[in-house]
Amino acid sequence: ISGRINVAIDGPAGAGKSTVARKVAEQLGYIYVDTGAMYRAVAYAAIGAGIGPDDSDKLGRLVQTLRIELAPGSEGQTVWLNGENVTSAIRTREVTLIVSQIASHEPVRLKLVGLQRALADSKGIVMDGRDIGTHVLPGAEVKVFLVASVEVRALRRFQELSGDQAVPIEQLEREIAERDRSDERREISPLICAKDAEVIDSTELTIDQVVERILDLCRTKTVEAK
Ligand code: CDP
Ligand code: CDP
Repeated sequence: ISGRINVAIDGPAGAGKSTVARKVAEQLGYIYVDTGAMYRAVAYAAIGAGIGPDDSDKLGRLVQTLRIELAPGSEGQTVWLNGENVTSAIRTREVTLIVSQIASHEPVRLKLVGLQRALADSKGIVMDGRDIGTHVLPGAEVKVFLVASVEVRALRRFQELSGDQAVPIEQLEREIAERDRSDERREISPLICAKDAEVIDSTELTIDQVVERILDLCRTKTVEAK
């Protein structure tokens, strides 16, 4: 494939965005950017600083002091916060439970969207999140809105948890539905399907099938981009 493009992948929690985005990037030799990890890093920093998830002013000041760096690697992406490797620390339940609230504040979004756009300055980026096709990279050549039933998404998350983190699947399902609602209802760049996005329902698809569908979309666009 010649002629580089940008690929935006949005959708609700557990739809498979990061898994397929990473594989698509690998296949194309592109850089994968996980924007959710950036919101998680801010949530993690807020917990450390003792700032509540509703304190917009303090969060706005906090976010200005943070240096968030994403380093692509073969095992996925390493996330650095002010020089500390927080790759696993940002995946805890504690962070997951507040991240949507943290992400609803304008100063937080303004700062992170700026970083995200800077990362996609040159073409050849696969970026996943909630507002990539609608707001961060509205000019992305390929836009995918990846969905799946909430039951399947909760099951996928359940299967990822190890013994000491076990949470009943019904509870995971409630938490995922709650986070989707909060992401869909927030005022600033809510989770919504872009008009020109291709909807892919992964409920009954394998990871590789989803990846193939997206690569097909990329092939048509890169021919046009030549
Ligand atoms: O991987 P998972 O689906 O659990 O979520 P994530 O992609 O890590 O994103 C965590 C949270 O960050 C989401 O629930 C959103 O509240 C927020 N987020 C956002 O608001 N905008 C983005 N572009 C990416 C994530
Ligand atoms: O990033 P997002 O929250 O949308 O999803 P993810 O973190 O990629 O998690 C999706 C989980 O479902 C991973 O454990 C995948 O192995 C699994 N899965 C998938 O992503 N796509 C399928 N078609 C089937 C399973």
